[in-house]
Amino acid sequence: MTANTKTSALMARGCEFLGTETAILCGAMSWVSERNLVSAISNAGGFGVIACGAMTPELLDAEIAATKALTAKPFGVNLITMHPMLFDLIDVCAKHGVTHVVLAGGIPPKGSVEAIKENGAKVICFAPTLALGKKLLRSGADALVIEGSEAGGHIGPVSTSVLAQEILPSLAADNLVFVAGGIGRGEAIAGYLEMGAAGVQLGTRFACASESIAHEAFKKAFFRASARDAVASVQVDPRLPVIPVRALKNKGTEEFTAKQIEVARLLDAGEVDMGEAQLKIEHFWAGALRRAVIDGDVENGSIMAGQSVGMVGKEEPVADIIAALMAESESALSNRVAA
Ligand SMILES: Cc1cc2nc3c(=O)[nH]c(=O)nc-3n(C[C@H](O)[C@H](O)[C@H](O)COP(=O)(O)O)c2cc1C
Repeated sequence: MTANTKTSALMARGCEFLGTETAILCGAMSWVSERNLVSAISNAGGFGVIACGAMTPELLDAEIAATKALTAKPFGVNLITMHPMLFDLIDVCAKHGVTHVVLAGGIPPKGSVEAIKENGAKVICFAPTLALGKKLLRSGADALVIEGSEAGGHIGPVSTSVLAQEILPSLAADNLVFVAGGIGRGEAIAGYLEMGAAGVQLGTRFACASESIAHEAFKKAFFRASARDAVASVQVDPRLPVIPVRALKNKGTEEFTAKQIEVARLLDAGEVDMGEAQLKIEHFWAGALRRAVIDGDVENGSIMAGQSVGMVGKEEPVADIIAALMAESESALSNRVAA
């Protein structure tokens, strides 16, 4: 990789924390972020993260072992906080000496951050607001990811640019904050680094890399799509707070509306409680995403994608994507007017 001096200097803290050459994380993507993509990202100088999703501890065990066989570089594991076997999954990570665990999907349950740290691993948490970010740091999080609503997959209500302005000035000088959501090019990376970010996390830009096992039809849907095709799901029942998901418009997004009505009826009839209702919704997404990513059913499956999908035009090796992002960032920083 050519010397990207200015970018590397701004990424130095993030690189030290991650143990990488660049402070670019590939965010965990269920079904996509498995051994092949994760090892390719880490081998190319980024930080790959395995998406545990709904995997059992046995499956996660096998996935980590297989990833270690493909890379000697550090990588992380993303665990969903509402997984019923979260603490067993934490043990699996410890058994393999996983260096970084990312906790996604809500506030970490009591004892989870401590359990991860006891094993010597670092904990990365998602901070949806400044107040929660401060709380997570006080509770032991080693780094934060702030992810705006431009992102693919499950999203919060606030855009990346606003979150960055609300959170970076207060927290980034003394803490490690990575910015995610809507980043497709290096110029944007340069901007967030200048605002104090320790690094960035991208998902959409990497989902269709040559090393990604996503089905050809899934990749083609990405290459055809523009920013406005990546829409957030709509909540139909005010009593059933579903976390919105950003995906490419198709029959699957319509089916989600029908699914919510079905689950709301079960809730009305007292056949499920709120927790079960929300789990049913999450299972719907996991199944639908698998259908699109693995089976290539881009009509009925869920093609989760962020608004940066319009900047993904072809299949490229991970190393080329990272090199391009770094070069774009460097060029942007070099073109800044000297003080
Ligand atoms: C297909 C897809 C699946 C995703 N699955 C997960 C997941 O399982 N867990 C998670 O924490 N984030 C998930 N994400 C979010 C990414 O990790 C990442 O934060 C996000 O893609 C960054 O925004 P961007 O898509 O604008 O680059 C997913 C994103 C996509 C596009």
